[in-house]
Amino acid sequence: MTMRDTFHRTIDYLRISVTDRCDLRCKYCMPETGVEPLTHGDILSYEEILRLAKCFARLGIRRIKITGGEPLVRLYVIDLIGQLKKIPGIEQVTLTTNGTHLAKYIWALDKLHIDGINISLDTLNPVLYKEITGRDVFAKVFSGLQEALKYPAIKLKINCVPQGLSGQDMAAVAGLAKDHPVHVRFIEMMPIGLGKEFPLIRESDVRQELEQTYGALQPFHENLGNGPCRYYSIPGFQGKIGFISAMSHKFCSNCNRVRLTADGKLKTCLQYDRGMDLKALLRAGRPDHEVELAILQALESKPGEHHFTETFVVDQEKKSMFQIGG
Ligand code: GTP
Ligand code: 5AD
Ligand code: SF4
Repeated sequence: MTMRDTFHRTIDYLRISVTDRCDLRCKYCMPETGVEPLTHGDILSYEEILRLAKCFARLGIRRIKITGGEPLVRLYVIDLIGQLKKIPGIEQVTLTTNGTHLAKYIWALDKLHIDGINISLDTLNPVLYKEITGRDVFAKVFSGLQEALKYPAIKLKINCVPQGLSGQDMAAVAGLAKDHPVHVRFIEMMPIGLGKEFPLIRESDVRQELEQTYGALQPFHENLGNGPCRYYSIPGFQGKIGFISAMSHKFCSNCNRVRLTADGKLKTCLQYDRGMDLKALLRAGRPDHEVELAILQALESKPGEHHFTETFVVDQEKKSMFQIGG
């Protein structure tokens, strides 16, 4: 089956957030204090996630991304990933992580044939890394990346959010794609949660900085994932340079995704609080066919695009990025 929304977009990609907890406190994402994490009873059990994933697969979802918070802080998430990989119809399962626990789990992720891992790394400067994330763990994350590089079957990408900080050094981060077979992506800050307080560093600003160091970026037309990233080549680089530019290059017309939050809500758009409480249906004992019907009904509320630059938006999402999973 193929799932389409009311704008005729094919929806075949599901982002599953397995937890709202995180061991970092990136300044633009998660406040240091005052966050009340979801309780064990609030979040979907692995059995519930697997049941929903099977419903989604029957409806046409083909690729799954595991996100958080930080997904690797949830106990036994590796087992969940292994089970998701076995669902008929699911062609790819990938993970987006901050990398702090990667060194420990990478062998297990390789063993279950994870298809790709995206590592968030905003700077190669350990002092600035601590300032941005609130934790002194640059070395841990970097060793996670180095361990991951030992498994050539796993496609690796770096996610970097430019913040205009002196010393963040985008060219150095991009240099990871020169030295290693990884793609480095620059993500424009989106005005969600704490991100609203940050300046927007545009794709064009980063491009200029990179071109000063490496010369012209050449458009690369292949799609290297399931997300909205556009890629460029630099001669001599092993990986590509990508841009995810929700602000300066809106990509909603190609949107292919829905989200499942850790507390079991289906989200039809990053910016909107529109969807369906699937956990409530499961816990009310509804059968699969009713859950699937509810998913299709919820899809009808999927907006055509985001309205990040508008000041008043009906159904605006109140959750922060760590509660949505990006
Ligand atoms: P792959 O390239 O296939 O790994 O997918 P991806 O780029 O979707 O994965 P990732 O989890 O690394 O997301 C990277 C960034 O893209 C995050 O900052 C997300 O918030 C952002 N992003 C992902 N999907 C959307 C979307 O639908 N809308 C917007 N505005 N941003 C998105
Ligand atoms: N805007 C853009 N990207 C964000 N991320 C977290 N918050 C924001 C925001 N407001 C990024 C993280 C991570 C990815 C999943 O989302 O840095 O790389
Ligand atoms: Fe899709 Fe909403 Fe993201 Fe636009 S902002 S790409 S509509 S999820």
